[in-house]
Amino acid sequence: MNITFLLNGETVELTDVDPTATLLDWLREDRGLTGTKEGCNEGDCGACTVMVTDEAGAKALNSCILFLPQLHGKAVRTVEGASGPDGEPHPVQQAMVDLHGSQCGFCTPGFVMSMVASHANGATDHDTQLAGNLCRCTGYAPIIRAAKAVEDQPVPVWVKDKPVAAKPVSPLLPKSSDELAKVFADHPGATLIAGATDVGLWVTKQLRNLDPVIFLGGCDDLKEISVTEDEVRIGAMVDMNRMGAAMADLHPSYAEMIRRYASVQVRHAATVGGNIANGSPIGDNPPALIALGATLHLRKGDERRAIPLEDFFVDYGKQDRAPGEFVEAISFMRQPDRLKCYKLSKRFDQDISAVCGCFNITVSDGVVSQARIAFGGMAGVPKRATQVEAALTGRPWTAETVQSALPAFAEDYSPMSDMRASARYRLETAKAMLERYFLEDQGELTNVLEVSA
Ligand SMILES: Cc1cc2nc3c(=O)[nH]c(=O)nc-3n(C[C@H](O)[C@H](O)[C@H](O)COP(=O)(O)OP(=O)(O)OC[C@H]3O[C@@H](n4cnc5c(N)ncnc54)[C@H](O)[C@@H]3O)c2cc1C
Ligand code: FES
Ligand code: FES
Repeated sequence: MNITFLLNGETVELTDVDPTATLLDWLREDRGLTGTKEGCNEGDCGACTVMVTDEAGAKALNSCILFLPQLHGKAVRTVEGASGPDGEPHPVQQAMVDLHGSQCGFCTPGFVMSMVASHANGATDHDTQLAGNLCRCTGYAPIIRAAKAVEDQPVPVWVKDKPVAAKPVSPLLPKSSDELAKVFADHPGATLIAGATDVGLWVTKQLRNLDPVIFLGGCDDLKEISVTEDEVRIGAMVDMNRMGAAMADLHPSYAEMIRRYASVQVRHAATVGGNIANGSPIGDNPPALIALGATLHLRKGDERRAIPLEDFFVDYGKQDRAPGEFVEAISFMRQPDRLKCYKLSKRFDQDISAVCGCFNITVSDGVVSQARIAFGGMAGVPKRATQVEAALTGRPWTAETVQSALPAFAEDYSPMSDMRASARYRLETAKAMLERYFLEDQGELTNVLEVSA
């Protein structure tokens, strides 16, 4: 596979690249650019952050779980390219020095590159922008001060990268869903790579050989979001940051949950399609989408089919997807916003859910007319709480009804105990989430971030 991209302003053309070579390894081992650090090698610490610019703009990404072909046609900037051609520091670098934002310095290149990207985008929600960068010795206050200090400074001209014009180079890098359908039909055993936030770890942690692989990043038609009067349709390659933005007006609680999905770097890469197709029982999108009554659109060659999303998850590790079939989109009806998503994890940012409960309960004239409730983390698949739904539907929307529905959770779910939570804790918190939904619906504040003594 031959690819072309810009690295710190200079064109790089690579021939016969190993499709699962990571950018981090290539930078450090082939180019000697050791400013980009390896911490966890699994997307958690941000030490390997680089800035990647494509048609959609500049974004911070973790280079440890970014495969070289994902960069085709894009511009990469590492910490070595953060300073100017005459060695002048980027304003964020100077601010980090002036405000004592670095001690041992191991995390510093990653922080600097996250800050360079958020500065280029004018983002000032620094806590969120830097939640994917871990520092063990400086403490975050001086780093946040440095980020704030440069908010009004102009973006240096040398970091204003433009993507390169890159021609299609390989059928394994399709440019549309039609091309993808054809190449996947020809290679039904291939591994599809969307954002690589799961697949990247298969390589860096499990040392798996994935040959052959097909990269979906060039399929622009799979990145479309369409919101009409009747329907919302999200392409499989819509990343989590765009998904969060799309949900902000329609279903704000969904958007708030996505703010707590991993980190900015991971959200720039991870896609809705990947979060569904991987069949994980603890993926954050499926319970929300099931609660919204979403339909999954699948395609194999020229054949398309649409199924209720909950039917896709057959069993743990088993999905209703044939070889050569891929996720094209997810859609759901426009509806009044009754959705609440509660993500429970040990850490606020950058943590996988122990339990994720999503509730969409419609009340007409004081009576529950429809209830759609779905959970992640409660079974081997994302799963609806059909017995709880039945216990609520047709009953008055009161505290008594809610209490009487709680035992039905034990009929719907037999959760397991693992390092994230015990079975009992999962079951009790699921019940508490329904009570919380009810209380919030009565106008009571229940969020610990909103309630104060
Ligand atoms: C540090 C870190 C934090 C994370 N935090 C969270 C979190 O908070 N919540 C959460 O839900 N997840 C989290 N994840 C998991 C991961 O981000 C998601 O599962 C992600 O959505 C996967 O999407 P992707 O585009 O990266 O998929 P990939 O890794 O590219 O692919 C995942 C799987 O889906 C398949 N696939 C991808 N696209 C398609 C398609 N269109 N059709 C058919 N098959 C396809 C691939 O072949 C593969 O089997 C985290 C991951 C990391 C590394
Ligand atoms: S090395 Fe930790 S996120 Fe990449
Ligand atoms: S300065 Fe040492 S880890 Fe951040």
